[in-house]
Amino acid sequence: MKHFIIKGPTKGVKGNINISGAKNSCLPLMAASILFEKKVVFKNIPLVNDVYTMKNLLIALGSKVVINKSNKMMTIINTRPHKLVVPYELVSTMRAGVLTMGSLLGRYHKKNIYVAKGGGCSLGIRDINYHLSGFESLGASNSLQKGYVKISSKDKLKGSLFKFPKVTVTGSANLIMASVFIKGFHIIKNISIEPEVIDLINFLNNSGANIKFLGKRTIKITGVKELIKGNHNIIGDRIEAFSYLCVAAITGGRVTVKNINPKHLKTELSILKKIGYKIKTSDNSVYLKSIKKLNSVKIKTAPFPGLATDSMPMLLALLTKVPGKSEILENIFSNRFMAAPELSRMGAKIKVKRNKAVILGTRNLFGADCISSDLRTTFSIILGALSATGTSKIQRIYHGLRGYSNLEKNLKKMGVKIKSVEK
Ligand code: EPU
Repeated sequence: MKHFIIKGPTKGVKGNINISGAKNSCLPLMAASILFEKKVVFKNIPLVNDVYTMKNLLIALGSKVVINKSNKMMTIINTRPHKLVVPYELVSTMRAGVLTMGSLLGRYHKKNIYVAKGGGCSLGIRDINYHLSGFESLGASNSLQKGYVKISSKDKLKGSLFKFPKVTVTGSANLIMASVFIKGFHIIKNISIEPEVIDLINFLNNSGANIKFLGKRTIKITGVKELIKGNHNIIGDRIEAFSYLCVAAITGGRVTVKNINPKHLKTELSILKKIGYKIKTSDNSVYLKSIKKLNSVKIKTAPFPGLATDSMPMLLALLTKVPGKSEILENIFSNRFMAAPELSRMGAKIKVKRNKAVILGTRNLFGADCISSDLRTTFSIILGALSATGTSKIQRIYHGLRGYSNLEKNLKKMGVKIKSVEK
């Protein structure tokens, strides 16, 4: 299996990184293509493994999907009705497969839809109870049959009022997609306003849907008859951008990340400033420069516009090198400090108790053999390894390749001594 060998420490990286389209925008957008009878074109798609898994899922359901790698474009055509069974092998490898629930339900009212229920995942329990109660608010019932969630509606789906008990990103995307063709209108409260959900809303509205914000987290969706040809340019990946800012930060270097809206990183950038880094932004780029004096911080994850839970593992690694005692409260997932034991093997001083990590900054980390267990943990371990003295071996990097394109190439370009080895 492929693993990374990193020789550290890397000091003072420099460079410009072009950020890809956002994975977590692209996946729901691809699921939303199910709603279209006409051709859909996505530009600025990220060429990452999760996107190829979603492509296979759509093809298995009957869509024609073509990816043009050189210009990062994807075309999806639905010439025949979709199959209404989403198999376990495709949902189990990528949790975002659950997003097909909302779009299949949205397009195929009065039909039975079967979507394999995803299992547990390394981040903790990831229930879909709020997705299902959202569908119920439109008149669709559900039951569990041999590991598959069966969703059915006797009549055309009808709008009412629904409030998410807790902010859920894919839950919001699912209910939005399910509501596009309803009878009447649906009011949804406490929806996610993550930039990726807004990207989905913009795409649907530009294609003929009628989704309006009534308040910060309240939307009104009025059912429309059809969607016209979809054409959309995907927003930049804020988590990828933040990851490379952290490469510059932990090595005492500087970097410009391009093709990213700095407003999508508002909280992350204010934390970096608080630690002591110099940040400059333009409309679509962020520049970070390191300075000598760094300060410890107390931070917590929250739904957008708060600190993204996906950015947290990178901050965990960064704070191991910041003098003093820092604290992180993780408020989204029950098991998101998986990088902590791996960073501790490099000499980091991190104590985790329930959803809180206390980090005592230390000057030196030392290379070690580590195993990654999820996407963002991979990058967190990479950050530790490139700031550590000596050689680190990082196994199970396939987790990282699910969501970062050109990972090795970009790190090399910044001056990191990294190579991937097939064993
Ligand atoms: N939750 C429930 N019931 C539900 C839905 C959610 O209890 O029906 C809980 C979850 O267990 C979790 C919290 O609510 O504790 C928030 O979960 P959310 O539904 O928002 O997460 P998600 O939609 O499954 C997306 C991203 C994740 C990202 C989270 C949080 C995609 C494809 N995935 O997951 O991205 O961490 O939102 O922002 O958009 C990643 O890219 O590495 C990644 C894991």
